[in-house]
Amino acid sequence: MVQFSASILNCDFTRLGEEIRAAEQAGVDAFHLDVMDGHFVPNISFGPPVTAHIRGLTSLPLRAHLMIADPCKYAPRFAETGADEILYHIEVADEDTLPVLLELGKPIGVTLNPDTMLESIYPILPRLSQVLLMSVYPGFGGQKFIPETLFRIDTLKREIERQKLSIPIAIDGGVNPETAPAARDAGADILIVGSALFKSSDYAAVVRAVKGV
Ligand code: DX5
Ligand code: ZN
Repeated sequence: MVQFSASILNCDFTRLGEEIRAAEQAGVDAFHLDVMDGHFVPNISFGPPVTAHIRGLTSLPLRAHLMIADPCKYAPRFAETGADEILYHIEVADEDTLPVLLELGKPIGVTLNPDTMLESIYPILPRLSQVLLMSVYPGFGGQKFIPETLFRIDTLKREIERQKLSIPIAIDGGVNPETAPAARDAGADILIVGSALFKSSDYAAVVRAVKGV
């Protein structure tokens, strides 16, 4: 069964508590915090204080998707304010990034933009908690799903199996009841959904449709 991870980027922040509770009641499995710094992506979202507020609202896993230029500098603040897992971008990493992040003692996942070579992360797969393949170019919610992502899921799945690992593959961006079935069939384990959930009038129906139940 795929996991449904709710991206709060496009939720109604004037009713954040209600939105978190409604999403949890609708059956989401985790929350996805889209952190943007205006440098790595041309947008700015929210930081550790919002993470702390959300931590107080739910016991579901909180995964911080750091779309920021300096993950090692800020990841500790997200860990301290309640993030259970940190997802950094390989595009801003060097050989020290993962070791430094692993010192936080939390699961660390890596994220790849749609045009980043999958091979770039093959050597570090054994140390990762998950791989997040972007199905849009990062920075904004509500974008159109990039269908080529489906081939990337399949290729990455084969490499994970070749290395005899069992780490989940997540996809993020443009995932909704229409695009989810192909993503599930391609082997995605975690589907990150923002707009399709929070812009809908029936959260539970969206969760069921995306999970295929
Ligand atoms: C984009 C973010 C996505 C996004 C969710 O940079 O990483 O998580 O907000 O996308 P939608 O709204 O398309 O589900
Ligand atoms: Zn994201």
